Amino acid sequence: MKESKGMTESRSVKSIQIFPEDTNHHNTMFGGKLIAEIDEIAAIAAMRHSGNSVVTASIDSVDFIQPIRTGEVLSLVSFVTYAGTSSMEICVKVVSEDNINQNKHLAAYSFLTFVALDENGKKVKVPAIYPETEDEKWFYETAKDRVNLRHERRDESKRTLEFMSTKLYI
Ligand SMILES: CC(C)(COP(=O)(O)OP(=O)(O)OC[C@H]1O[C@@H](n2cnc3c(N)ncnc32)[C@H](O)[C@@H]1OP(=O)(O)O)[C@@H](O)C(=O)NCCC(=O)NCCS
Repeated sequence: MKESKGMTESRSVKSIQIFPEDTNHHNTMFGGKLIAEIDEIAAIAAMRHSGNSVVTASIDSVDFIQPIRTGEVLSLVSFVTYAGTSSMEICVKVVSEDNINQNKHLAAYSFLTFVALDENGKKVKVPAIYPETEDEKWFYETAKDRVNLRHERRDESKRTLEFMSTKLYI
């Protein structure tokens, strides 16, 4: 395993066209379908960086900035922006393109955390990461704050879990 890798090495890109079955009665894409696409492209970046299989530990809020309509082409780009011991933060940007009107817009973005696992499903160390471009430096320098916020949220979530796990409501 390499000791460290550049952010660019994990960069992963996918384009898809939006069809009627991907959309609701407003002819805009289902949020859940978009989240599934975001999760998949983020996992590919995490696997590229870690060289192992990975699981999604958490998805930060997904900001749906503009509706995505039938016929538009969606491009998703993902890259690792932070590497901890076994966890990685991935940024996914979603750009939607209306080829008839020649418009492109930022449709959504999200940060996700993945954990690398070995062949026995045990957490495994991931390579460190280093930024190379000015944009990558911004992601790298702001990552610590996002990671700290996630730790705080996780502590809070553990307290909620204690309560919820005794009351399944099913
Ligand atoms: C994610 C998972 C592997 C973490 O296991 P764990 O024993 O709780 O691990 P730890 O507390 O030691 O955390 C391991 C790393 O993940 C990070 N992490 C764990 N849960 C996290 C969360 N909810 N958000 C962000 N980071 C998280 C920790 O900070 C730690 O990072 P580091 O190794 O870089 O320091 C485990 O909870 C799991 O398997 N969850 C289910 C995953 C899954 O099935 N995903 C698909 C959903 S359908």
